Amino acid sequence: MKLTPQTALIHAPRKAPQFINTVQAPLFRASTIIFENTDALFNRHWTDDYDYSYGTHGTPTTFTLGDHIAQIEGGKYCLLAPSGLSAINLVNSCFLSHGDEVWVADNIYGPNMEHLRNLETRYGIDVKVYNPIDADSFQPSEKAKLLWLEAAGSVTLEFPDLINLVKKAKSKNILTALDNTWGAGLAFNAFDFSDEHLSVDVSVHALTKYPSGGGDILMGSVVTRDKALHHKLFRTHAIQGISISGDDAAQVQRSLASMQIRYQHQSNSALHVLQWLKTQEAFAQVLHPADPDNISHQYWKDTCQTEQSAGLVSVIFKPEYDMNAIRKFCDHLKLFKLGFSWGGPVSLVMLYKLDDMRHLDHSHLQKGILVRFCIGLEDADDLIADIQQALKAL
Ligand SMILES: Cc1ncc(COP(=O)(O)O)c(C=O)c1O
Repeated sequence: MKLTPQTALIHAPRKAPQFINTVQAPLFRASTIIFENTDALFNRHWTDDYDYSYGTHGTPTTFTLGDHIAQIEGGKYCLLAPSGLSAINLVNSCFLSHGDEVWVADNIYGPNMEHLRNLETRYGIDVKVYNPIDADSFQPSEKAKLLWLEAAGSVTLEFPDLINLVKKAKSKNILTALDNTWGAGLAFNAFDFSDEHLSVDVSVHALTKYPSGGGDILMGSVVTRDKALHHKLFRTHAIQGISISGDDAAQVQRSLASMQIRYQHQSNSALHVLQWLKTQEAFAQVLHPADPDNISHQYWKDTCQTEQSAGLVSVIFKPEYDMNAIRKFCDHLKLFKLGFSWGGPVSLVMLYKLDDMRHLDHSHLQKGILVRFCIGLEDADDLIADIQQALKAL
């Protein structure tokens, strides 16, 4: 058929071959997916896992990444979302209904708490807070449906008593969801983390952090091992139109190859920086679960048998340093950039007023302003020198 120039611009003469082997998987970008014929159209199963009928339901690029994330985390099924918070939202909106009770750790990622508070006000869901290092503070009622865990909490870095909390939830048929961003599927296996092979039901991961590794992509995942749970999530994912771009999926997929090396490097650097921070007069407390002085150290040790940790380390300044002083400190840092997030190449710093963030007694934490360091891929001694020069500015 002879084409006019306008039509020829749209229909290229050559199609990419179907089977060509490359190091990186081919990238599919799609909103529309073209059906071979009407049989294919009418036989589509868009509620199936690997149905190719429209971009929001997935493409080979997004399914490749999802399968890979599920495998890394020790799960079987994965759904991808446009951010970590959106993945959290997917879990909450899938499993919580009017009248249900949900339990969250006092050190949970703040926007998750905020999202749940919003559900509480608007949809009558009861939000209860427990102390992650005291499993007895988790006292679910008959209405309890979901227990949120985070290991470790990403600001104060207490590692929860995962084993006893999960055991208790399981004994009462309460679903367990872990924000697995800190462990990234590398520090421990969320689906098999004890000698008794305990497992959470759902693992949520802000792929924005380690899997992306670049500080430039937002994405989240929800991994399960149970088909029925996955299908419930799958249905909610589909009807809410949650989807990600093929380009972003391909970028994250490409970064996975180096994730363990980056995680290990940041884990080692954080420990090196931690040892130095502990010698400094300005700090009332240094927080990291791998530190034997940390209140949650034993829980970290029981769970993270790889002895790896994310590259986060927090300090609480002595009370004589007020907000103005801490701001001066942060403003004087040169290598550490002031910004949210972690897991990227550039070290980051953020400051927090603890009393505004906690609901329960937190007397294991000293009084003072908390500064969190997110260790990047720079040399750890250069990072120490940077903190040292900023401390001198005080
Ligand atoms: C522990 C934790 N979970 C979830 C998220 C949310 O991820 P995102 O930034 O992709 O929404 C973050 C982001 O900082 C986080 O620190």
